[in-house]
Amino acid sequence: MLIFISHLITGAADLAAAFLLMFGLKRMSSPESARSGIRVAGVGMLVAVLACFLNVVGVSAAARPHLIVNIVLAATMLMIGVGLAWWKGKTVKLTAMPQMVALYNGMGGGAAGAIAAVTLIGRKAEGPALILALIGGLIGAVSLSGSLIAWAKLDEVLKQPLRFKGQRYFNALVFLATLAVAGYLVFIWQGGAAPLLPIFALIAIFFGCGLLFGVFITLPIGGADMPVVISIYNALTGLAVALDGFVLQNPALMIAGMVVGAAGMFLTLIMAQAMNRSVSNILFSDFGDATKHKQGAIKGSLKPVEASDAGIFMRYAKSVIIVPGYGLAVAQAQQKLYEFVKLLQAAGVEVRFAIHPVAGRMPGQMDVLLAEAGVPYDLIFQLADINPDFATTDVALVIGANDVVNPAARDDKSSPIYGMPILNADKAKKVYVVKRGQGKGYAGIVNALFYAENCNMVYGDAQAVLVQMIEAVRGLGAAVA
Ligand code: TAP
Repeated sequence: MLIFISHLITGAADLAAAFLLMFGLKRMSSPESARSGIRVAGVGMLVAVLACFLNVVGVSAAARPHLIVNIVLAATMLMIGVGLAWWKGKTVKLTAMPQMVALYNGMGGGAAGAIAAVTLIGRKAEGPALILALIGGLIGAVSLSGSLIAWAKLDEVLKQPLRFKGQRYFNALVFLATLAVAGYLVFIWQGGAAPLLPIFALIAIFFGCGLLFGVFITLPIGGADMPVVISIYNALTGLAVALDGFVLQNPALMIAGMVVGAAGMFLTLIMAQAMNRSVSNILFSDFGDATKHKQGAIKGSLKPVEASDAGIFMRYAKSVIIVPGYGLAVAQAQQKLYEFVKLLQAAGVEVRFAIHPVAGRMPGQMDVLLAEAGVPYDLIFQLADINPDFATTDVALVIGANDVVNPAARDDKSSPIYGMPILNADKAKKVYVVKRGQGKGYAGIVNALFYAENCNMVYGDAQAVLVQMIEAVRGLGAAVA
């Protein structure tokens, strides 16, 4: 009876968790409801974890001799994990979020791989479930090591893509070796032959090959493609978790895994589309290798102006479109930017923000920054909606952005970013670019826009520049008064 009731409650909790996870995800699709979406999904995850505990307790204690010890261990690890995540989430800089996502994703892959390993070592699955455990273990191992390499690249621990001759053949060989060990394990388990090595050693070789494969497939990919790579690993981690769920017959794991897997897959496709590249091109081309790009001669010159002059010019413009980029996040200048925008609006200037889907270093980074500063959502426009308006706009203010406004993506077939849709800032009547110096963007290439006739450079840290612009525009008001 007790077991029946526990199954009933667990089933209901799993259903509630599934609903909360999907409802939370749905709410994350708009900046207005995203915060509450995260909370709802968090509650869903909590319900799923409690359901897992209940599921374990519900099974007869006789079947699980170490029940109490295991529960205490799991609860302790959970508390340590929650504490670390809470501290890291509170202290992480917004610019370091992609690295953190890569690390957390790697841990998810590692956890899925570990569950599969325990299942395989203890031979807790039979027939098709055994094969699912092998697939889940392989995907988890690849996600773990691949995500760690992605973290190292984003954190600039690894600065250059590591490429060598015959790399693809080598990767294919490692992958085939992993499959061969997996096939051999299945063959042994089906009673085909006595193992040449102890089973534990074979399982270790299998996971070792999977980890190596993750490392070698990620090493040659350029840093600029890391967010897409993380998103792919995110989808794979979800798949591995879902497969573990099937093996363990745990609905919460199945649902959470499938939701993560599907969301990761869609995010990957959306990002690839935003760069006008296929996923295979991202994984297997040498994008981001700026050394291969022969920069053509650039016409024009860099024309610096004072921040105060640029600020006053915008004060008398009719319309301004602001293009924020990674540098805005580095400078943490979002509050000052909105202060400047409010001054322009008070002077009757129409101000809008143009967001490129891959501006910054992670999806939605610019939206988060602007939301944090309190910029109303109706001032924020996505690429396709605002691009036609640049041609009729007085000023495009490019602040800490570079690649996302680089016309080479339109005109230069040899450019590593060729084909990526860009914001047409160069078409505005006047362009101001705020940046600290001659630093290149993520793709490591020169931007011809900066040399264009209609473009002026405003050199300085974005926050310092905005302070000067604000003072200049305020000074005008004081002078009139
Ligand atoms: P970037 O092309 O990286 O350019 C950022 C510019 O900001 C740099 O040229 C830098 O020039 C300037 N900057 C840095 N710190 C600054 C500061 N404190 N004040 C003022 N300017 C500062 O940025 P973007 O235009 O946003 O493009 C994003 C790039 O990253 C794309 O290539 C994209 O593919 C890639 N990427 C995107 C993502 C996602 S999903 N968003 C993830 C990873 C990579 P100075 O050094 O001269 O100041």
